[in-house]
Amino acid sequence: MTDPQAPSTLPSIGRPADEVMADLTTKRSDDVRWADGRTFGLVFDGGEDVRAVAEQAARLYLHENALNTLAFPSLGSIQSEICGWTSDLLNGSRAAGFLTSGGTESILCAVLAARDRALAERGVTEPELVLPISAHAAFHKGAHMFGLRTRTVPVTDEWTTDLDAMADAVGPDTALVVASAPQYPQGTVDPVPEVAAMAVEVGASCHVDACMGGFVLPFAELEGRTTQPWDFRVEGVTSISADLHKLGYAPKGVSVILHRSRELRRYQTFDFDGWLAGRYITPNMQGTRSGLPMAAAWAVLQYLGVDGYRRLVRTTLDTADTIRSGIRAIDGLRILGNPVHHLLAISAEPEIEDETRRIDLLALGEAMADRGWHLDRQGPPPSLHMTVSAGNTKAVNEFLADLSEAAEQVRGGATGEATQYATLE
Ligand SMILES: Cc1ncc(COP(=O)(O)O)c(C=O)c1O
Repeated sequence: MTDPQAPSTLPSIGRPADEVMADLTTKRSDDVRWADGRTFGLVFDGGEDVRAVAEQAARLYLHENALNTLAFPSLGSIQSEICGWTSDLLNGSRAAGFLTSGGTESILCAVLAARDRALAERGVTEPELVLPISAHAAFHKGAHMFGLRTRTVPVTDEWTTDLDAMADAVGPDTALVVASAPQYPQGTVDPVPEVAAMAVEVGASCHVDACMGGFVLPFAELEGRTTQPWDFRVEGVTSISADLHKLGYAPKGVSVILHRSRELRRYQTFDFDGWLAGRYITPNMQGTRSGLPMAAAWAVLQYLGVDGYRRLVRTTLDTADTIRSGIRAIDGLRILGNPVHHLLAISAEPEIEDETRRIDLLALGEAMADRGWHLDRQGPPPSLHMTVSAGNTKAVNEFLADLSEAAEQVRGGATGEATQYATLE
């Protein structure tokens, strides 16, 4: 500010802390009520005890900076221990990785590493990224940022990658091929062995996006739920992202990016010595890096252990099954594909001829929002997304009752709008 008299939107004199906190509390009053289990996505609640552990660890590490792990060796060891545990979970006997701020950053790191590997090992100068239309938007963001051309392939009627189309798209310029376990929009798991084999054939990298499934599928397998092969046991999978701040039940933002080996991991790091402050090495997109989410995730992992995650996964998958049965029992609604884990999309039966019986899904989303439920409205096709987590269990009966009532309210009526992630300010 050049003119000290100029009006500022920031108070010219600081305000009392209790007043400031009261204002913040008021600001939150219109936010979704995730603690009541009414949000299917965005916040993943492992329960009051898990939150308490995370909050204690967060307080300890609120100000710590993982930019320099020589200054904060505890953060270096927190990172390597979490990566080690996650490698064990995902069967990566030689895997090595880093923590990032979230799924998007892990995916950006995977895209960058694949691009640089393709250039270094195969001389690919016009790299391509081959991915199904169901893959997360973060891959397109990575391609945009790092100069890769995307080749998007369709999905089958089962909402998994169309393997024939993918085989046509993979070629000598392919740097990265993508599969998801599970994908976000419909919650299905891609055929990872087939996708990875295509990558192997041309020497490309294969990333499995397990941002949603990384801390669910291994425990689902232990619980005896059928889970097709998707992790480092699949030959050709070179990297995996798994988000602790989703179904790992840690607070935001923390995710794990693992590479199959240390040699592959080196394509991700930035090691620079050409400025006036010495050698600068960073493992991901960040410079200064909060220790808070790293330490909170470490504490939650230790607190829950394998046993705790198995319990939360059991609860989550049973809740998702109850929700699926409840939805299928409502006239005119269906689930897209056959997701068996914790993500699903509610859609309308397409073949209802009688217009007075039809349900517009986006209007249904609005009617549910009016009742205090948060489900992302997505498409194509118009559908309502649900990521179920343990915190939703307590609200499941109320949810199904409201869904049934809302379906009757909008049946045969006006259409709504898809509004997901619409704000830019
Ligand atoms: C499958 C999948 N991948 C990646 C992401 C991106 O994760 P984040 O929002 O933590 O950046 C998401 C987010 O929902 C996701 O569902």
